[in-house]
Amino acid sequence: MMRAALVRAYGEPPQLEDFGDPSANGQGELVVEVLAAGLNPVDLHLASGDYVGGSPPLPYVAGREGVGRTADGQRVYFDAPIPPHGSFAQRAVVAAESCVSLPDGVDDGLAIACGIAGRAAWLSLEYRARLQPGETVLVLGASGTVGQIAIQAATLMGAGPVLAAARSDDGLRRAGELGASATVKLDGERGAIVDRMRAAAPDGIDVVIDPVWGSPAEAAVEALAPRGRLVQLGAAAGERASFSSNAVRGKALTILGHVSWLTPRDVARAAYERLSEHAARGELTADVEQLPLADVAEAWERQGSGPGCKLVLVP
Ligand SMILES: NC(=O)c1ccc[n+]([C@@H]2O[C@H](COP(=O)([O-])OP(=O)(O)OC[C@H]3O[C@@H](n4cnc5c(N)ncnc54)[C@H](OP(=O)(O)O)[C@@H]3O)[C@@H](O)[C@H]2O)c1
Repeated sequence: MMRAALVRAYGEPPQLEDFGDPSANGQGELVVEVLAAGLNPVDLHLASGDYVGGSPPLPYVAGREGVGRTADGQRVYFDAPIPPHGSFAQRAVVAAESCVSLPDGVDDGLAIACGIAGRAAWLSLEYRARLQPGETVLVLGASGTVGQIAIQAATLMGAGPVLAAARSDDGLRRAGELGASATVKLDGERGAIVDRMRAAAPDGIDVVIDPVWGSPAEAAVEALAPRGRLVQLGAAAGERASFSSNAVRGKALTILGHVSWLTPRDVARAAYERLSEHAARGELTADVEQLPLADVAEAWERQGSGPGCKLVLVP
């Protein structure tokens, strides 16, 4: 038996209990000793039972990514553990092809921040927006882990000015430390937010990275330059956004959806390798807080109300 955080009912947080030790059954599966597991908004969506990509059958161990040690002693990042197993446990079953060996210079927490969150930021810029050197990027939700990494990834890819938009002063200050050249506070009337976005980018905004949707996305669509692109990858601010035909058609905008699991595996793997190499060289970071797995209930609640950092559980 091992300790694991189990979801037994949709809509309920996971509970720590004893659960049967995993074994690798299928071809290409292996068991990893979990060193650290990352908490993400998707864990809460999955446990709600109405996730767009489907939820695992009950009961299942929560957690979709982690850092672990394989039987041959390698330290690896893994994602998509095979249900009912998950990363919020002492051991998990994973597909060998989901494991990426980690460079020594990147610690477990940062390796996890580069995973579900970091990879979505990187792929949104490189694979979906096809960011070109010198283009101006606006990152919404800049205080979250996706946003923090998008600011740095855009800079590493040679973007021109990188603007950061968030609700809190702390989030905006941190975005500046991570390389944002200007910040936009997301408060007040939409027209005022659009004015602030435009003032922060006198040459126009070419690409918006949008993990929030809702009213911040509505403002960003208005602020985008002609032929601009908005990559929509999350709905932290709401499931709906409304803008006119003219706002999109009149500027020949492109709105691109992104989910990492619909990205070819080799493209997603290459993105993770690039991120972890930058992290190991000290060129990319993220705010991480580690908690013991026993505190899973507290971590779950904090993730639901905006943790302001990547929460990592250590079994
Ligand atoms: N498509 C994909 O493949 C993919 C992959 C990873 C993540 N995502 C999605 O991307 C989003 C962000 O993920 P994350 O890991 O960065 O989460 P996170 O670290 O919890 O950050 C959430 C972000 O959303 C902001 N936010 C929350 N409610 C808001 C509101 N009402 N108005 C404006 N901003 C609001 C938060 O701002 P405050 O700091 O002000 O609370 C914070 O910046 C989530 O929706 C997640 O599901 C998608």
